Amino acid sequence: MKLSKRLTAIDTLISQHHDIIWDCCCDHGYLGMALLKRAAASQVIFVDIVATLMNDLEAQLSSINKLQKTCDKNPQWQVLCQDVGKIEIAQSKSQVVVIAGVGGELLLSLVQQIIANNAVEHLNNVRFILCPVHHTYKLRVGLKQLGLGLVSEQIVYDNKRFYEVIEVSFSSNNEISHTGNKMWNFASTEHAMYQRQLINHYNKMLNKDKPYYQKVITDYQELTDS
Ligand SMILES: C[S@@+](CC[C@H](N)C(=O)[O-])C[C@H]1O[C@@H](n2cnc3c(N)ncnc32)[C@H](O)[C@@H]1O
Repeated sequence: MKLSKRLTAIDTLISQHHDIIWDCCCDHGYLGMALLKRAAASQVIFVDIVATLMNDLEAQLSSINKLQKTCDKNPQWQVLCQDVGKIEIAQSKSQVVVIAGVGGELLLSLVQQIIANNAVEHLNNVRFILCPVHHTYKLRVGLKQLGLGLVSEQIVYDNKRFYEVIEVSFSSNNEISHTGNKMWNFASTEHAMYQRQLINHYNKMLNKDKPYYQKVITDYQELTDS
């Protein structure tokens, strides 16, 4: 199974060994399986709310386990069929929570719930790798309000769609900008196309809430004004 360009970008950000990696809203579980295969963590936890998906994934992982000889180096895995907002973050030295492939507003609500439901000292060693489908501006505003700091951000053009991969944690003091000002390279025609796409999209939204969307448009325009 070959990872998409978007999931590969996330996979690449996980270069060091971790205690636990969460593949949240995992669906097919491709990312978590790739991480398991290369033993990126002592434990990989798959979470999705759809029972049929999780039953299939559990069966698939169990059959892979049976094929492999039991070996201490094999990382453990767990499949949880539940709401990602209710995951319990244990105390550990290093942990990564990946949430990808859901809308930005839902993604923000999931991060807000995870933070509200878990102890601050458990969250301090967590790195969140987030890749929403749309609504990145609202997501970024919300992440900043939660007190998270930026670790890295990048634009990924995959299968004719643009995605932002945003990595944040409480241990970073770097401010999260609303428009992702560290991820742009305007020498790239793709990035210029993404900026135009965002501005066109928010122009169409002006009739919903003019002052709010005008500010969003101005923020994206300012990226190339200076
Ligand atoms: C399009 S898939 C994303 C798959 C994969 N993460 C990716 O990026 O390719 C979105 C998944 O999110 C799951 N989902 C949506 N809301 C959820 C929630 N509150 N808790 C757990 N899973 C959720 C859906 O069931 C679906 O399988």
